[in-house]
Amino acid sequence: MQASAHLRPICLKWAIQLGIPDIISNHDKPITLSELVSALQIPPAKGCFVHRFMRFLAHNGIFDIHEGQEDDHELITYALTPASKLLLSGTDHCLASMVLFTTSDPDMNSIVDVGGGTGTVARFINEAFPKLECNVFDLPEVVENLTGANNLSFVGGDMFKSIPQADAVIYTQGTNILLISFGK
Ligand SMILES: C[S@@+](CC[C@H](N)C(=O)[O-])C[C@H]1O[C@@H](n2cnc3c(N)ncnc32)[C@H](O)[C@@H]1O
Repeated sequence: MQASAHLRPICLKWAIQLGIPDIISNHDKPITLSELVSALQIPPAKGCFVHRFMRFLAHNGIFDIHEGQEDDHELITYALTPASKLLLSGTDHCLASMVLFTTSDPDMNSIVDVGGGTGTVARFINEAFPKLECNVFDLPEVVENLTGANNLSFVGGDMFKSIPQADAVIYTQGTNILLISFGK
């Protein structure tokens, strides 16, 4: 359980760096294990590691996995989920840069999303990185009825007066990071 929470952000980062969401999307239909292994230019003999990796991510809601039979052999296919659709490049809702940023510094323990609204981005970050303290900072009237959970919290205030302390400050527009400043 602990190891799984630790591995999740790392595997998510690798999946983005390997371009797996884009490979599946460009394939236009669920991709088989052998097709994915070939697209990744990995020796077929190492396909079992790719399958283990994809199974872990599927277990964490990043991909859908289907294990069936075709003719007399096992056929494994992978598809995108709503979560991995948010990692597709070239879309205006791409969270890939956010994930790569969040995994870039292992010593980063907290972020504050200034003008974070109702916390759409922060909730995604909180789900992917449950150990990271995630503060959404917005005007008091915007956050007054919003409740956080675990490491997600909502703080009301005026950014022109002061903002909560955190290792990094982000400003987002939709799911694009417009500004990052390191408080450390
Ligand atoms: C363009 S929206 C961006 C919202 C969110 N980051 C997003 O992309 O969906 C700007 C946000 O800044 C907040 N805001 C405006 N003035 C502010 C201030 N003085 N202090 C804190 N937040 C403020 C607004 O309430 C609004 O939620």
